[in-house]
Amino acid sequence: MHQDVEQILYTEEELRRRVKEVGAQITADYYGRQPLLISVLRGSYIFMADLTRAISLDLTVDFMVVSSYGAGTVSSGQVEIKKDLSDSIEGRDLIIVEDILDSGNTLYYLMDVLKARKPASIRLCTLMDKPDRRTKPITADYVGFTIPDAFIVGYGLDYDEKYRNLPYVGVLKPSVYQRGAEPS
Ligand code: PRP
Repeated sequence: MHQDVEQILYTEEELRRRVKEVGAQITADYYGRQPLLISVLRGSYIFMADLTRAISLDLTVDFMVVSSYGAGTVSSGQVEIKKDLSDSIEGRDLIIVEDILDSGNTLYYLMDVLKARKPASIRLCTLMDKPDRRTKPITADYVGFTIPDAFIVGYGLDYDEKYRNLPYVGVLKPSVYQRGAEPS
């Protein structure tokens, strides 16, 4: 285990099993259709890679880079599209793929932007859901795990751009981000 991690919340094996279940559910729900999965980068890149391989449909993929946090643990409320989609989404069945749904601020903003482009449907799939922290009326259609309000890293999730490559999801030691918050 990484020295900055206090506790492993989900092991590689638990993640693998749950992602397969979510993929199977999406396969069943979208039978006969060709959804477009939109990965909201950067945090969702590992989940996206595993989820798409767990879905048996003729799907397509696209990517957006959206930023809301900066180098902290609390959402600033400001959302910026840093990289937009490559293709049109008009008439498509969208599944937005996120690593974590926290305040809901990012998705609240993004849903509006995407709806205006006239897709046939939009659903939201998040690996982690922290409903206790929600400040915007956003609900995910597919949730990997519902988690308490701890600061988690790994499997794509970062703190200050680090720890994304940990193969498990773990709780970050508070001393790491308390240290980060101190003036230098
Ligand atoms: C994270 C995550 C979501 C958002 C969720 O992204 O990937 O996009 O925060 O938080 P919210 O529900 O409070 O809006 P972040 O801005 O940390 O960027 P990253 O994906 O590059 O890690």
